[in-house]
Amino acid sequence: MKHKSLVSINDYTKEEQLRILELAQEFEKNPVQRIMEDYVVASLFFEPSTRTRLSFESAASRLGAKIVGFSEASNTSVKKGESLRDTILTVANYSDLIVMRNPIEGSARFASEISSVPIINAGDGANQHPTQTLLDLYSIQKTQGTLDNLHVALVGDLKYGRTVHSLVIALCNFNTTFHLVSPVELKLPRSVKMHIKEKNLAYHQYTELEDVLPKSDVLYMTRIQKERFSDPLEYEKIKNSYIFHADMLPDTKENFRVMHPLPRVNEIHTSVDKSPKAYYFEQALNGVFVRQALMTLILGIK
Ligand code: CP
Repeated sequence: MKHKSLVSINDYTKEEQLRILELAQEFEKNPVQRIMEDYVVASLFFEPSTRTRLSFESAASRLGAKIVGFSEASNTSVKKGESLRDTILTVANYSDLIVMRNPIEGSARFASEISSVPIINAGDGANQHPTQTLLDLYSIQKTQGTLDNLHVALVGDLKYGRTVHSLVIALCNFNTTFHLVSPVELKLPRSVKMHIKEKNLAYHQYTELEDVLPKSDVLYMTRIQKERFSDPLEYEKIKNSYIFHADMLPDTKENFRVMHPLPRVNEIHTSVDKSPKAYYFEQALNGVFVRQALMTLILGIK
């Protein structure tokens, strides 16, 4: 993985993904080490973020790295008309690794093709969010004791949700049975379903959340991605399609866990938060350890 960009989850093999999860376990036991002191990480966020940006920066800080970058492009030279190409070529001169979120699909791939330092895709439009997937895999493995042969329900905006796209592709390596719950307008794109079909795995599509609860090991709730809709009325019509409440918990298995990449809007009622089956905040914490593992492997420190 040394010097290898991570743009799409498939850029890394199953074995490489499992190596990251294994190393993340070590960082979870010992997250503060000075092993990145000689490195500068650039954190370029052209789109809003709380968890991804701050967990990358926390991960790097706890390993002693210096961080440069921005959390909005409006106070950079992009505002003066600088291209993404020139921004990347410049920042690559100042850093050893670039973490980038950008609203344009394919922007991270483009950056990886011109950059002299590795690029980590922190989300490119509605396309992919591979580091979220690594922490999702880590969270599933930790709560279920395995990644193999699970029933995973993905609920909400399966069309625009980039975390869903990357996660489905990754789970295809683990004989997953997929339960896909969405409004008809927001079904999983054909290009992602192709990955499931190529592996001859089962997927079932639903419009009702209640239908999947008794059979699922993991419920992966997602936000309807308001910012990807061109018609605000369309969003208003379906924005509260699925809300998971605490009174739905008795219908679930012992090992059932509720996950969500966050931020949530209304998809999980706060009454669920105290349940031992609610895992979304621990899931977000796992992002620190997984990103420590990823960065140190890419930099060749581990
Ligand atoms: N999960 C996730 O990407 O959250 P942020 O948008 O807050 O980074």
